[in-house]
Amino acid sequence: MSPVPPAVRLWEDGFARDPYRYYAALRAQGAVGRAELAPGVAAYVVTERRAALDVLRDTRTFSHDPRPWETTVADGSPVLGMMRWRPNALFADDAAHVRYRTTLIDMFDRVEPYDLRARVHRAVRVLVARFGPRGRADLVAEFARPLMALVFNSLFGLPDSEGDRLGRALGKLWEGGAGAAEGEAESAAYVRELVAAKEERPGDDLPSWLLDHPAGLTVEEVVWQVFLTLGAGHEPTANLLSNALSRILGNPDYRSTLTGGARPVTDAVTEVLHHETPLANYGIHYARAPVSFHGTRIRPAVPVVISYGALAHFAGQEPADGARMPRDASHLSWSAGPHTCPVTRHTLLIVTEAVERLMQWLPDLEPVLPRERLSWRPGPFHRSLTALPVRFGPRSPGRRQPGESA
Ligand code: HEM
Repeated sequence: MSPVPPAVRLWEDGFARDPYRYYAALRAQGAVGRAELAPGVAAYVVTERRAALDVLRDTRTFSHDPRPWETTVADGSPVLGMMRWRPNALFADDAAHVRYRTTLIDMFDRVEPYDLRARVHRAVRVLVARFGPRGRADLVAEFARPLMALVFNSLFGLPDSEGDRLGRALGKLWEGGAGAAEGEAESAAYVRELVAAKEERPGDDLPSWLLDHPAGLTVEEVVWQVFLTLGAGHEPTANLLSNALSRILGNPDYRSTLTGGARPVTDAVTEVLHHETPLANYGIHYARAPVSFHGTRIRPAVPVVISYGALAHFAGQEPADGARMPRDASHLSWSAGPHTCPVTRHTLLIVTEAVERLMQWLPDLEPVLPRERLSWRPGPFHRSLTALPVRFGPRSPGRRQPGESA
Protein backbone atom coordinates (compact mmCIF):
# COMPACT_ATOMS: atom_id res chain seq x y z
CA MET A 1 0.00 0.00 0.00
CA SER A 2 1.45 3.43 -0.94
CA PRO A 3 1.92 5.86 1.98
CA VAL A 4 -0.75 8.56 2.46
CA PRO A 5 0.74 11.89 1.29
CA PRO A 6 0.95 14.65 3.92
CA ALA A 7 -1.93 17.13 4.01
CA VAL A 8 -1.19 20.34 2.09
CA ARG A 9 -1.41 23.25 4.55
CA LEU A 10 -3.47 25.99 2.93
CA TRP A 11 -3.21 28.07 6.11
CA GLU A 12 0.56 28.57 5.78
CA ASP A 13 1.92 31.99 4.81
CA GLY A 14 3.66 30.36 1.84
CA PHE A 15 0.24 29.64 0.30
CA ALA A 16 -0.43 33.36 -0.17
CA ARG A 17 3.05 33.85 -1.70
CA ASP A 18 2.82 30.98 -4.19
CA PRO A 19 -0.54 29.18 -4.32
CA TYR A 20 0.40 27.36 -7.54
CA ARG A 21 3.05 25.32 -5.71
CA TYR A 22 0.35 24.18 -3.26
CA TYR A 23 -2.11 23.44 -6.08
CA ALA A 24 0.57 21.34 -7.81
CA ALA A 25 1.12 19.37 -4.57
CA LEU A 26 -2.63 18.75 -4.29
CA ARG A 27 -2.90 17.78 -7.93
CA ALA A 28 -0.03 15.33 -7.57
CA GLN A 29 -2.37 13.40 -5.22
CA GLY A 30 -5.02 13.02 -7.98
CA ALA A 31 -8.38 14.69 -8.66
CA VAL A 32 -8.93 15.01 -4.91
CA GLY A 33 -6.09 15.96 -2.56
CA ARG A 34 -5.82 16.08 1.21
CA ALA A 35 -5.34 19.46 2.84
CA GLU A 36 -5.69 21.43 6.06
CA LEU A 37 -7.74 24.65 6.07
CA ALA A 38 -6.43 25.58 9.53
CA PRO A 39 -4.16 23.66 11.90
CA GLY A 40 -5.93 20.34 12.52
CA VAL A 41 -8.90 21.11 10.22
CA ALA A 42 -8.75 18.44 7.51
CA ALA A 43 -10.38 18.79 4.08
CA TYR A 44 -10.47 17.14 0.69
CA VAL A 45 -9.64 19.60 -2.08
CA VAL A 46 -10.84 19.02 -5.64
CA THR A 47 -8.47 20.33 -8.30
CA GLU A 48 -9.74 18.49 -11.37
CA ARG A 49 -12.55 19.86 -13.49
CA ARG A 50 -14.63 16.72 -14.04
CA ALA A 51 -14.47 15.81 -10.36
CA ALA A 52 -15.43 19.38 -9.42
CA LEU A 53 -18.49 19.30 -11.67
CA ASP A 54 -19.45 15.93 -10.24
CA VAL A 55 -19.41 17.39 -6.71
CA LEU A 56 -21.17 20.61 -7.66
CA ARG A 57 -24.00 18.89 -9.55
CA ASP A 58 -24.56 15.72 -7.54
CA THR A 59 -26.82 16.88 -4.74
CA ARG A 60 -27.77 13.31 -3.80
CA THR A 61 -24.19 12.43 -2.84
CA PHE A 62 -23.02 15.81 -1.53
CA SER A 63 -24.70 18.27 0.82
CA HIS A 64 -23.94 21.92 1.68
CA ASP A 65 -24.97 21.46 5.30
CA PRO A 66 -21.89 21.74 7.57
CA ARG A 67 -23.57 20.79 10.85
CA PRO A 68 -22.21 17.21 11.10
CA TRP A 69 -18.71 18.60 10.50
CA GLU A 70 -19.13 21.35 13.10
CA THR A 71 -19.46 18.77 15.86
CA THR A 72 -15.88 17.68 15.06
CA VAL A 73 -14.27 21.14 15.17
CA ALA A 74 -12.73 22.88 18.17
CA ASP A 75 -14.61 25.94 19.42
CA GLY A 76 -12.86 29.06 18.24
CA SER A 77 -11.39 27.46 15.11
CA PRO A 78 -10.53 30.39 12.79
CA VAL A 79 -12.41 28.84 9.83
CA LEU A 80 -15.73 28.51 11.65
CA GLY A 81 -16.69 32.07 10.71
CA MET A 82 -16.61 31.17 7.02
CA MET A 83 -17.94 27.64 7.36
CA ARG A 84 -20.44 27.36 10.21
CA TRP A 85 -24.10 26.70 9.43
CA ARG A 86 -26.60 29.53 9.24
CA PRO A 87 -30.14 29.45 7.84
CA ASN A 88 -29.20 30.82 4.41
CA ALA A 89 -28.93 29.72 0.78
CA LEU A 90 -25.28 28.72 0.95
CA PHE A 91 -25.73 26.16 3.71
CA ALA A 92 -29.08 24.76 2.54
CA ASP A 93 -29.97 21.89 0.21
CA ASP A 94 -32.94 21.07 -2.00
CA ALA A 95 -36.27 22.86 -1.27
CA ALA A 96 -34.88 25.03 1.55
CA HIS A 97 -32.09 26.12 -0.77
CA VAL A 98 -34.50 27.02 -3.59
CA ARG A 99 -36.63 29.07 -1.18
CA TYR A 100 -33.69 31.13 0.10
CA ARG A 101 -32.02 31.46 -3.28
CA THR A 102 -35.23 32.70 -4.91
CA THR A 103 -35.48 35.55 -2.39
CA LEU A 104 -31.91 36.62 -3.18
CA ILE A 105 -32.41 36.45 -6.94
CA ASP A 106 -35.65 38.45 -6.67
CA MET A 107 -33.91 40.98 -4.44
CA PHE A 108 -31.06 41.60 -6.90
CA ASP A 109 -33.47 41.63 -9.86
CA ARG A 110 -34.92 44.79 -8.34
CA VAL A 111 -31.54 46.55 -8.56
CA GLU A 112 -31.58 48.25 -11.95
CA PRO A 113 -28.24 48.50 -13.79
CA TYR A 114 -28.54 52.28 -14.24
CA ASP A 115 -29.16 52.67 -10.51
CA LEU A 116 -26.24 50.43 -9.55
CA ARG A 117 -23.99 52.30 -11.98
CA ALA A 118 -24.96 55.60 -10.34
CA ARG A 119 -24.18 54.19 -6.87
CA VAL A 120 -20.76 52.98 -8.06
CA HIS A 121 -19.94 56.32 -9.67
CA ARG A 122 -20.89 58.13 -6.50
CA ALA A 123 -18.77 55.80 -4.34
CA VAL A 124 -15.77 56.34 -6.66
CA ARG A 125 -16.15 60.11 -6.34
CA VAL A 126 -16.45 59.95 -2.53
CA LEU A 127 -13.27 57.87 -2.31
CA VAL A 128 -11.25 59.90 -4.82
CA ALA A 129 -12.24 63.01 -2.85
CA ARG A 130 -10.58 61.40 0.21
CA PHE A 131 -7.25 60.40 -1.30
CA GLY A 132 -7.09 62.40 -4.57
CA PRO A 133 -5.49 65.58 -3.17
CA ARG A 134 -2.59 63.49 -1.79
CA GLY A 135 -1.40 62.24 -5.18
CA ARG A 136 -0.90 58.72 -3.86
CA ALA A 137 -3.09 55.95 -2.46
CA ASP A 138 -3.38 52.27 -1.67
CA LEU A 139 -6.09 51.06 -4.04
CA VAL A 140 -6.89 48.05 -1.83
CA ALA A 141 -7.40 49.82 1.51
CA GLU A 142 -8.56 53.16 0.14
CA PHE A 143 -10.48 52.15 -2.96
CA ALA A 144 -11.56 48.53 -3.66
CA ARG A 145 -12.58 47.50 -0.12
CA PRO A 146 -14.28 50.75 0.98
CA LEU A 147 -15.96 51.00 -2.43
CA MET A 148 -17.76 47.70 -1.88
CA ALA A 149 -18.70 48.74 1.66
CA LEU A 150 -20.10 52.05 0.35
CA VAL A 151 -22.04 50.36 -2.46
CA PHE A 152 -23.54 47.75 -0.12
CA ASN A 153 -24.32 50.39 2.50
CA SER A 154 -26.17 52.45 -0.04
CA LEU A 155 -28.12 49.38 -1.25
CA PHE A 156 -28.97 48.76 2.40
CA GLY A 157 -30.13 52.34 2.85
CA LEU A 158 -27.36 53.17 5.37
CA PRO A 159 -25.14 56.26 5.62
CA ASP A 160 -21.54 56.17 4.33
CA SER A 161 -20.22 56.44 7.88
CA GLU A 162 -21.14 52.78 8.46
CA GLY A 163 -19.00 51.62 5.52
CA ASP A 164 -15.62 51.58 7.29
CA ARG A 165 -16.97 49.55 10.21
CA LEU A 166 -18.39 46.99 7.82
CA GLY A 167 -15.22 46.73 5.70
CA ARG A 168 -13.01 46.12 8.77
CA ALA A 169 -15.27 43.40 10.18
CA LEU A 170 -15.55 41.48 6.91
CA GLY A 171 -11.81 41.69 6.28
CA LYS A 172 -11.02 39.96 9.59
CA LEU A 173 -13.61 37.27 8.92
CA TRP A 174 -12.10 36.36 5.53
CA GLU A 175 -8.49 36.16 6.68
CA GLY A 176 -9.52 33.22 8.86
CA GLY A 177 -6.80 34.07 11.42
CA ALA A 178 -6.76 35.22 15.04
CA GLY A 179 -9.25 38.05 14.41
CA ALA A 180 -11.79 35.87 12.56
CA ALA A 181 -14.17 35.29 15.47
CA GLU A 182 -14.19 39.01 16.25
CA GLY A 183 -14.81 39.81 12.56
CA GLU A 184 -17.71 37.36 12.48
CA ALA A 185 -19.27 38.84 15.64
CA GLU A 186 -18.88 42.41 14.36
CA SER A 187 -20.34 41.60 10.92
CA ALA A 188 -23.29 39.80 12.49
CA ALA A 189 -23.94 42.71 14.90
CA TYR A 190 -23.91 45.12 11.96
CA VAL A 191 -26.48 43.04 10.05
CA ARG A 192 -28.71 42.51 13.09
CA GLU A 193 -28.86 46.25 13.79
CA LEU A 194 -29.58 46.90 10.12
CA VAL A 195 -32.45 44.40 9.86
CA ALA A 196 -33.97 45.56 13.17
CA ALA A 197 -33.94 49.16 11.87
CA LYS A 198 -35.61 48.12 8.59
CA GLU A 199 -38.24 46.11 10.40
CA GLU A 200 -39.15 49.23 12.32
CA ARG A 201 -38.90 51.60 9.39
CA PRO A 202 -38.90 49.85 5.97
CA GLY A 203 -37.32 51.64 3.03
CA ASP A 204 -36.63 51.10 -0.66
CA ASP A 205 -33.60 48.88 -0.03
CA LEU A 206 -32.39 45.26 -0.07
CA PRO A 207 -33.20 44.23 3.54
CA SER A 208 -36.66 45.81 3.37
CA TRP A 209 -37.39 43.91 0.14
CA LEU A 210 -36.33 40.66 1.82
CA LEU A 211 -38.54 41.35 4.84
CA ASP A 212 -41.42 41.94 2.45
CA HIS A 213 -40.76 38.94 0.13
CA PRO A 214 -43.72 36.58 -0.48
CA ALA A 215 -41.56 33.62 0.66
CA GLY A 216 -42.29 34.91 4.17
CA LEU A 217 -38.75 34.71 5.62
CA THR A 218 -38.54 35.16 9.38
CA VAL A 219 -36.51 38.09 10.68
CA GLU A 220 -33.75 35.65 11.63
CA GLU A 221 -33.72 34.25 8.09
CA VAL A 222 -33.54 37.77 6.65
CA VAL A 223 -30.54 38.50 8.90
CA TRP A 224 -28.68 35.50 7.51
CA GLN A 225 -29.54 36.15 3.85
CA VAL A 226 -28.19 39.70 4.28
CA PHE A 227 -25.12 38.32 6.06
CA LEU A 228 -24.58 35.92 3.16
CA THR A 229 -24.98 38.72 0.62
CA LEU A 230 -22.29 40.69 2.39
CA GLY A 231 -20.03 37.76 3.09
CA ALA A 232 -20.29 36.38 -0.44
CA GLY A 233 -20.24 39.78 -2.14
CA HIS A 234 -17.97 42.21 -0.34
CA GLU A 235 -14.58 40.51 -0.23
CA PRO A 236 -14.70 38.56 -3.51
CA THR A 237 -15.78 41.63 -5.46
CA ALA A 238 -13.27 43.94 -3.74
CA ASN A 239 -10.58 41.39 -4.60
CA LEU A 240 -11.79 40.97 -8.17
CA LEU A 241 -11.55 44.75 -8.48
CA SER A 242 -8.10 45.15 -6.96
CA ASN A 243 -6.70 42.10 -8.77
CA ALA A 244 -8.03 43.55 -12.07
CA LEU A 245 -6.61 47.00 -11.26
CA SER A 246 -3.19 45.50 -10.58
CA ARG A 247 -3.24 43.81 -13.99
CA ILE A 248 -4.39 46.95 -15.75
CA LEU A 249 -1.78 49.14 -14.09
CA GLY A 250 0.96 46.61 -14.79
CA ASN A 251 0.17 46.29 -18.49
CA PRO A 252 0.51 49.18 -20.97
CA ASP A 253 -2.04 47.57 -23.35
CA TYR A 254 -4.78 48.11 -20.81
CA ARG A 255 -3.68 51.50 -19.68
CA SER A 256 -3.81 52.90 -23.21
CA THR A 257 -7.26 51.28 -23.52
CA LEU A 258 -8.61 53.62 -20.95
CA THR A 259 -7.51 56.55 -23.04
CA GLY A 260 -8.87 54.93 -26.23
CA GLY A 261 -6.48 51.98 -26.64
CA ALA A 262 -6.79 48.31 -27.41
CA ARG A 263 -8.10 46.14 -24.55
CA PRO A 264 -11.33 46.55 -22.58
CA VAL A 265 -11.53 46.30 -18.79
CA THR A 266 -13.57 43.10 -19.14
CA ASP A 267 -10.45 41.39 -20.56
CA ALA A 268 -8.57 42.16 -17.35
CA VAL A 269 -11.48 40.82 -15.29
CA THR A 270 -11.51 37.62 -17.32
CA GLU A 271 -7.75 37.28 -16.84
CA VAL A 272 -8.24 37.55 -13.09
CA LEU A 273 -10.96 34.90 -13.14
CA HIS A 274 -8.47 32.62 -14.91
CA HIS A 275 -5.31 33.35 -12.96
CA GLU A 276 -6.12 34.98 -9.60
CA THR A 277 -9.72 34.18 -8.99
CA PRO A 278 -10.77 35.95 -5.77
CA LEU A 279 -12.74 33.06 -4.26
CA ALA A 280 -9.81 30.66 -4.54
CA ASN A 281 -11.08 27.74 -2.48
CA TYR A 282 -14.67 27.40 -1.37
CA GLY A 283 -17.74 25.55 -2.71
CA ILE A 284 -17.66 23.49 0.48
CA HIS A 285 -19.62 20.23 0.39
CA TYR A 286 -19.94 17.19 2.65
CA ALA A 287 -20.52 13.60 1.54
CA ARG A 288 -23.86 12.36 2.89
CA ALA A 289 -22.34 8.85 3.37
CA PRO A 290 -18.90 7.30 2.79
CA VAL A 291 -18.24 7.32 -0.97
CA SER A 292 -15.47 6.33 -3.40
CA PHE A 293 -14.99 9.36 -5.55
CA HIS A 294 -12.48 9.80 -8.38
CA GLY A 295 -10.03 7.47 -6.67
CA THR A 296 -10.43 8.75 -3.10
CA ARG A 297 -12.50 7.27 -0.28
CA ILE A 298 -14.38 10.27 1.08
CA ARG A 299 -15.66 10.26 4.64
CA PRO A 300 -18.77 12.19 5.71
CA ALA A 301 -18.40 15.23 7.99
CA VAL A 302 -15.12 16.24 6.31
CA PRO A 303 -15.24 19.31 4.04
CA VAL A 304 -14.88 18.69 0.30
CA VAL A 305 -13.56 22.00 -1.01
CA ILE A 306 -13.67 23.08 -4.64
CA SER A 307 -10.42 24.80 -5.55
CA TYR A 308 -11.66 27.37 -8.05
CA GLY A 309 -8.09 28.72 -8.04
CA ALA A 310 -6.54 25.39 -9.02
CA LEU A 311 -9.29 24.64 -11.55
CA ALA A 312 -8.70 27.97 -13.28
CA HIS A 313 -4.93 27.45 -13.15
CA PHE A 314 -5.09 23.96 -14.64
CA ALA A 315 -7.88 24.82 -17.12
CA GLY A 316 -7.10 23.45 -20.55
CA GLN A 317 -4.55 21.00 -19.16
CA GLU A 318 -7.15 18.34 -18.40
CA PRO A 319 -6.86 15.15 -20.46
CA ALA A 320 -9.44 15.21 -23.27
CA ASP A 321 -12.30 12.83 -22.57
CA GLY A 322 -14.53 13.14 -25.60
CA ALA A 323 -17.07 10.66 -24.28
CA ARG A 324 -17.84 12.66 -21.14
CA MET A 325 -16.58 16.12 -21.77
CA PRO A 326 -14.46 17.90 -24.39
CA ARG A 327 -11.23 19.60 -23.30
CA ASP A 328 -12.33 22.85 -21.71
CA ALA A 329 -10.15 25.84 -20.91
CA SER A 330 -12.89 27.88 -19.24
CA HIS A 331 -12.67 28.74 -15.55
CA LEU A 332 -15.32 27.77 -13.00
CA SER A 333 -14.84 30.89 -10.90
CA TRP A 334 -18.59 31.50 -10.55
CA SER A 335 -19.07 27.81 -9.65
CA ALA A 336 -21.62 25.49 -11.33
CA GLY A 337 -24.74 23.59 -10.31
CA PRO A 338 -27.48 24.80 -7.97
CA HIS A 339 -25.28 27.14 -5.88
CA THR A 340 -23.70 28.98 -8.85
CA CYS A 341 -23.14 32.66 -8.02
CA PRO A 342 -26.52 34.33 -8.62
CA VAL A 343 -25.10 37.85 -8.90
CA THR A 344 -22.53 37.74 -11.71
CA ARG A 345 -24.16 40.44 -13.86
CA HIS A 346 -24.21 42.98 -11.04
CA THR A 347 -20.69 42.05 -9.97
CA LEU A 348 -19.24 42.60 -13.43
CA LEU A 349 -21.03 45.92 -13.71
CA ILE A 350 -19.66 47.11 -10.35
CA VAL A 351 -16.09 46.14 -11.21
CA THR A 352 -15.96 47.53 -14.75
CA GLU A 353 -17.70 50.79 -13.82
CA ALA A 354 -15.43 51.27 -10.81
CA VAL A 355 -12.28 50.82 -12.90
CA GLU A 356 -13.45 53.06 -15.72
CA ARG A 357 -14.66 55.82 -13.43
CA LEU A 358 -11.46 55.77 -11.37
CA MET A 359 -9.38 56.08 -14.52
CA GLN A 360 -11.53 58.99 -15.68
CA TRP A 361 -10.81 60.86 -12.46
CA LEU A 362 -7.15 59.85 -12.34
CA PRO A 363 -5.98 59.13 -15.91
CA ASP A 364 -2.29 59.32 -14.96
CA LEU A 365 -2.48 56.59 -12.26
CA GLU A 366 0.69 54.55 -12.07
CA PRO A 367 1.78 51.68 -9.86
CA VAL A 368 4.47 52.34 -7.26
CA LEU A 369 5.67 48.71 -7.32
CA PRO A 370 6.11 46.23 -10.16
CA ARG A 371 3.42 43.55 -10.05
CA GLU A 372 5.78 40.79 -8.94
CA ARG A 373 6.61 42.76 -5.77
CA LEU A 374 3.00 42.97 -4.61
CA SER A 375 2.10 40.77 -1.64
CA TRP A 376 -1.02 38.72 -0.88
CA ARG A 377 -3.05 38.33 2.29
CA PRO A 378 -2.93 34.97 4.09
CA GLY A 379 -6.00 32.74 4.26
CA PRO A 380 -7.10 29.50 2.59
CA PHE A 381 -10.22 30.88 0.90
CA HIS A 382 -9.24 33.98 -1.05
CA ARG A 383 -6.72 35.50 -3.46
CA SER A 384 -6.43 38.99 -2.10
CA LEU A 385 -3.74 41.67 -2.47
CA THR A 386 -2.37 43.16 0.75
CA ALA A 387 -1.94 46.57 -0.86
CA LEU A 388 -1.81 48.20 -4.29
CA PRO A 389 0.15 51.45 -3.91
CA VAL A 390 -0.24 54.01 -6.74
CA ARG A 391 0.69 57.63 -7.49
CA PHE A 392 -0.88 60.26 -9.72
CA GLY A 393 -1.17 64.01 -10.17
CA PRO A 394 -3.16 65.33 -7.15
CA ARG A 395 -6.82 65.83 -7.97
CA SER A 396 -10.00 66.89 -6.15
CA PRO A 397 -13.23 65.73 -7.73
CA GLY A 398 -15.85 68.42 -7.85
CA ARG A 399 -19.48 68.08 -6.99
CA ARG A 400 -21.88 65.31 -7.87
CA GLN A 401 -21.76 64.41 -11.57
CA PRO A 402 -24.82 63.93 -13.80
CA GLY A 403 -26.14 60.36 -13.45
CA GLU A 404 -24.73 59.78 -9.94
CA SER A 405 -26.92 58.91 -6.98
CA ALA A 406 -27.07 61.49 -4.19
C1 HEM B 1 -22.10 41.75 -5.39
C2 HEM B 1 -21.28 40.70 -5.38
C3 HEM B 1 -21.69 39.28 -5.07
C4 HEM B 1 -22.78 38.80 -4.41
C5 HEM B 1 -23.89 39.60 -3.75
C6 HEM B 1 -22.70 37.36 -4.43
C7 HEM B 1 -23.64 36.52 -3.85
C8 HEM B 1 -23.56 35.16 -3.82
C9 HEM B 1 -24.50 34.29 -3.14
C10 HEM B 1 -25.72 34.78 -2.37
C11 HEM B 1 -24.10 33.03 -3.32
C12 HEM B 1 -24.76 31.76 -2.75
C13 HEM B 1 -25.75 31.21 -3.74
C14 HEM B 1 -26.36 29.91 -3.31
O1 HEM B 1 -25.88 29.29 -2.35
O2 HEM B 1 -27.32 29.50 -3.96
C15 HEM B 1 -22.92 33.07 -4.14
C16 HEM B 1 -22.22 31.98 -4.55
C17 HEM B 1 -21.01 32.05 -5.19
N1 HEM B 1 -20.35 33.18 -5.61
FE1 HEM B 1 -21.03 35.06 -5.52
N2 HEM B 1 -21.55 36.97 -5.09
C18 HEM B 1 -20.90 38.11 -5.48
C19 HEM B 1 -19.68 38.17 -6.11
C20 HEM B 1 -18.89 37.08 -6.39
C21 HEM B 1 -17.55 37.13 -6.92
C22 HEM B 1 -16.74 38.39 -7.21
C23 HEM B 1 -17.13 35.85 -7.08
C24 HEM B 1 -15.82 35.33 -7.59
C25 HEM B 1 -15.42 35.53 -8.81
C26 HEM B 1 -18.23 34.98 -6.68
C27 HEM B 1 -18.20 33.60 -6.72
C28 HEM B 1 -19.17 32.79 -6.18
C29 HEM B 1 -19.06 31.35 -6.13
C30 HEM B 1 -17.88 30.54 -6.64
C31 HEM B 1 -20.22 30.88 -5.52
C32 HEM B 1 -20.58 29.44 -5.20
C33 HEM B 1 -20.61 29.19 -3.76
C34 HEM B 1 -19.48 28.43 -3.17
O3 HEM B 1 -18.35 28.42 -3.72
O4 HEM B 1 -19.69 27.87 -2.10
N3 HEM B 1 -19.27 35.77 -6.26
N4 HEM B 1 -22.60 34.40 -4.43
